[in-house]
Amino acid sequence: MKTRTQFFTTPIYYVNAKPHLGHAYTTIAADVATRFKKMDGHETYFLTGTDEHGDKIVQAAQKQNQTPKEYANKISRLFQDLWPRLSVRNDQFIRTTDPAHIKVVTDLLTKIHEKGDIYFSSYEGQYCFGCERFYQDRELVDGKCPDHGVAPSTIKESNYFFKMGQYQDWLIDHIKTHPGFIHPGQYETELLSFLKEPLEDLCISRPKSRLTWGITLPFDHDYVTYVWFDALVNYISALGYPDGALFKKFWPCARHFVAKDIIKPHGIYWPIMLKAAGIDIYAGLNVHGFWNVSGSKMSKTIGNVTDPVAVTDQYGVDAFRYFLMREMVFGLDANFTEDVLVSRINADLANDLGNLFSRVLSMNFRYFKGVVPTMLPAADLSLETDACTAIHSFQKAMTGYEFHKAITAVWQFISCMNKYIDTHEPWQLAKDADKKPLLSAVICNLLEGLRTVACLIYPVMPDTSKKMLPALGIKIPENGFFSLDRIHIWGQIQPGTCLAKPQILFPRIDVPRKEASEQENPSGKKKKPPVAAPEHKPEITIEDFAKIDLRTGTILAAEKIAGSDKLLKLQVDTGNHTRQIVAGIGKYYAPENLVEKQVVVVANLKQATLMGEKSQGMVLAAGTKKELILAGFDTQVQPGSPIK
Ligand code: ME8
Ligand code: MG
Repeated sequence: MKTRTQFFTTPIYYVNAKPHLGHAYTTIAADVATRFKKMDGHETYFLTGTDEHGDKIVQAAQKQNQTPKEYANKISRLFQDLWPRLSVRNDQFIRTTDPAHIKVVTDLLTKIHEKGDIYFSSYEGQYCFGCERFYQDRELVDGKCPDHGVAPSTIKESNYFFKMGQYQDWLIDHIKTHPGFIHPGQYETELLSFLKEPLEDLCISRPKSRLTWGITLPFDHDYVTYVWFDALVNYISALGYPDGALFKKFWPCARHFVAKDIIKPHGIYWPIMLKAAGIDIYAGLNVHGFWNVSGSKMSKTIGNVTDPVAVTDQYGVDAFRYFLMREMVFGLDANFTEDVLVSRINADLANDLGNLFSRVLSMNFRYFKGVVPTMLPAADLSLETDACTAIHSFQKAMTGYEFHKAITAVWQFISCMNKYIDTHEPWQLAKDADKKPLLSAVICNLLEGLRTVACLIYPVMPDTSKKMLPALGIKIPENGFFSLDRIHIWGQIQPGTCLAKPQILFPRIDVPRKEASEQENPSGKKKKPPVAAPEHKPEITIEDFAKIDLRTGTILAAEKIAGSDKLLKLQVDTGNHTRQIVAGIGKYYAPENLVEKQVVVVANLKQATLMGEKSQGMVLAAGTKKELILAGFDTQVQPGSPIK
């Protein structure tokens, strides 16, 4: 069978400033796509790098009193060092100052020049230094560059031009006859609409009188190459064009990841450059939207340029990767705020995934001493079909570069497993020896479901996948992942395997609660004094205290009591038995967040009936009318332990 191949690239980033959230997103997206393609049986090659020539870099270097090369070395290093920290595994890092790259640019220019597609002429135009390109009037917004918001400078000079117009009809036809070439569709529409107007020729040189930091034109040594003509070529120079083995193998399946800011160079100049040089054009372009930060465009002036190192140091790499891939709909803009990041970590990672993982492993520990039971065939208890549905939707979405949908498919399966636990109530099955086979089936299905999840999250959260699989008794293949066509096979966890007690995958992040006065009054100026603590009660003796039987308990299940928004019905494991407790915490806790929580139980409180439900005890909590917090422990304690 012929191996399928896949080549992914990111833009090569300018070295005029250190890497930020936007760079991290594109590179992580390409990494996720690469890891997925590997799971899907492809041989992959993943390229990223830095774009180091041009005015912008010269200006940034000058500000630091450094030569462009010194400055480029320094910033390029920041990018090179960042990627491993974000679990990005690129196969190559290219720099446009690499001699091999410079040679390919020179050869390509010679080829196109000899063909007669490059001519010399004098030109006057509107130039944006930020974009390093001339703008046509119709592209400007209120006379300003739409990207940089500054009026371009009028520049008149003699330069070399690349004739693009003659390839316009060919390009339009190519786009129209290759669905998915530009992805997602809205960007195809945008390009085609731009191509309705005649294309102007592209200025591909800069006189050395103005700029020397670039690749000298092979046919006129008084000029350097326009930085975009230089940069785009990285995608083939990295593969060793024209004869390199990598080029032959991977160029036919090249797909570029970029954001919408650079769709024109990638969607128009680049295919035309390749066509003019007689090289097959790339297979596809994936265009994503922009990250705003707290609702504004990232900018040094606003001071909201988000540093991926700081975010991952605080919240962890996998949580950051998860957030980026889950929050942005590929193609549309998205908003980054710390609040949303934290609530996703708490809801999706700590609660949905993390709780399920520790819940299932704790049950395996509690009911089977950690030893995986034998899965007896119990068709009506099988989660296999739901797992297959998740795998299928995941594969389909990932193949279409719809990362957020792929993740949603996995999380739907997670929520299906959480419901499965509530429906089958393993703690009830455990009470009845006859039901042991059913209990085994439930636990085995849940373990297999978790295995499926651990395999599927590999592209997005490789470290978490790597933590979960061994904890489920699964040996990770040497290449680090399970191929997609093996994941669905049910029953891979061997009965008799001894699994350890659960570890916490994602600790919940405590959000500092805003003062009530701050919440009501966003200016936050007037803070109410803290509410005074109520009067203390009269003294009691140690004997009085000893009458109260305080015990640790683990909440196994929680549900709302119909007709009350205050009361929750809890099933609590207090050692030798599971008791039902009705607690007035419904306004402060969602039932699904309580499962596996350890609480303090008043175990010898006289049984009572509340809203028709019996309550055998009480759980302890502290707080005010506005908030109530359950008393608990800072590590796991054996349920039923007396509290002294
Ligand atoms: O354009 N949101 O480099 P560059 C999402 N050197 N992605 C963002 C972003 C944001 N707010 N800001 C930047 C260049 N990006 C050229 C490329 S390629 C042959 C030459 C990401 O450093 C996104 O991928 O300005 C965008 O396309 C790229 O960084 C621009 O990086
Ligand atoms: Mg830019």
